[in-house]
Amino acid sequence: AVTLKEAAQAKGKHIGVATQSWLVNKSEYAAVLNQEFDTITPEYQMKMGVIQKQKGIYNFSEADALVDFALKNNKIVRGHTLVWHSSLPSWVENGKFTREEWIAILKDHITKTVQHFKGKVYGWDVVNEAFWQNGQYRPTVWYNNIGPEYIEMAFRFAHEVDPQAKLYYNDFSSEVKNEKSDAIYKMLKDLKSKGVPIDGIGFQTHLTIDGLNYNDMKTNFQRFAALGLDTDITEMDLVTHTFQGTMEQKMNAAAAVYGNVMKVALSLPSCKFFIAWGLNDSQSWLNEDTGFSEYPLLFDDSFGKKPAYNAVMEQL
Ligand code: XIL
Repeated sequence: AVTLKEAAQAKGKHIGVATQSWLVNKSEYAAVLNQEFDTITPEYQMKMGVIQKQKGIYNFSEADALVDFALKNNKIVRGHTLVWHSSLPSWVENGKFTREEWIAILKDHITKTVQHFKGKVYGWDVVNEAFWQNGQYRPTVWYNNIGPEYIEMAFRFAHEVDPQAKLYYNDFSSEVKNEKSDAIYKMLKDLKSKGVPIDGIGFQTHLTIDGLNYNDMKTNFQRFAALGLDTDITEMDLVTHTFQGTMEQKMNAAAAVYGNVMKVALSLPSCKFFIAWGLNDSQSWLNEDTGFSEYPLLFDDSFGKKPAYNAVMEQL
C-alpha cells in the first residue's frame, strides 16, 4: 500500500507531524510515524522555556533526542520556534533588562540554538505569532522591550549563523485575507524589500471543523508566494467538539476540511510542506486547550487511519 509520504513526494511535497521525544520512544507510534511521514516538527522541545530555562545555560537534550530519531529515520526536521511570546522561561517572562541587554538575550538564544542544530534542520520558525487578530503587533516581551525591530533582528541573527537554513514567519488565523494576514503581508513585503533573509511563511492552519473559504485561502497564499515566499501548512488540526451530529458525520466533516486544505496545498508550488499538529487524536494539545475530547488529526488512538487520512490520500 502506498503511504502518505510516498504519495506526497511523488507530487514534490513533504508531509509531517509535530511530535516529542517521549512519543517517538513508543514503538508502535514510531512505526506509524516512520511509515507515513517524511517530516517532523518538535511540538514543544525546541522552545525557549525548555532550551534555556536558566539564563545562559542551554540544555538541548530533549530536542537532541528527537532530532537524533529524525535523522536516523531519514526525516526532515523543521525547527520550532526561536522567538515566541509563550513557553518562555520565567527569567525572560519577568526579566528587567535594558534594551541593549534584551537584544543580547535575543541574539544569544538564536545564535546558540541555530548553531547547535546547524546542518540537522531544514529551517526555523524564526518568529511565531507576532500579531493580534486585529493586525496590531502583539505586545510580547520582545516587542515591549526591543520594539518591532526585534523581528528583523531575529531573522538576521539566524541567517548569520546558518545561511543554509530556511527561515519562516509563522502564525495562525491568517490563512484567509483578514486584518491579521494583511498586517503580516505588509510586514513581510517590507522586510523582503529591505533584504531581510526570510524564505517563507508558515500558516499554522489551526481550524475548526467548519473549515474556511478555500478559494480565499488560495488567493491569500498566492499573494505571499508573489513576494517570493514559500507558503507552508505548518500546524494543521481541527477543533471538532462544536459539531452537531453523529460521530460518523463528525469524522466525515473533519475529513472534508483536510481534503480541501490539501487540495489548496497541491495547487500551489509555493506550498511544499503539509504538517499536522500531532499524529493521533488523544495526543493533540487541543484536548487540553479546549477542555473537550477532540478529533483533530489523521489517526485514531489505535493508529487506525481516519476518514481524514483517506481524504488527504485521495487528493494526493
Ligand atoms: C503548543 C503545543 O502543542 C503544546 O504541547 C505546548 O504546551 C504549547 O504549545 N501554536 C504554535 C505551537 O505555534 O507551538 C503551539 O503548540 C500551538 C499553537
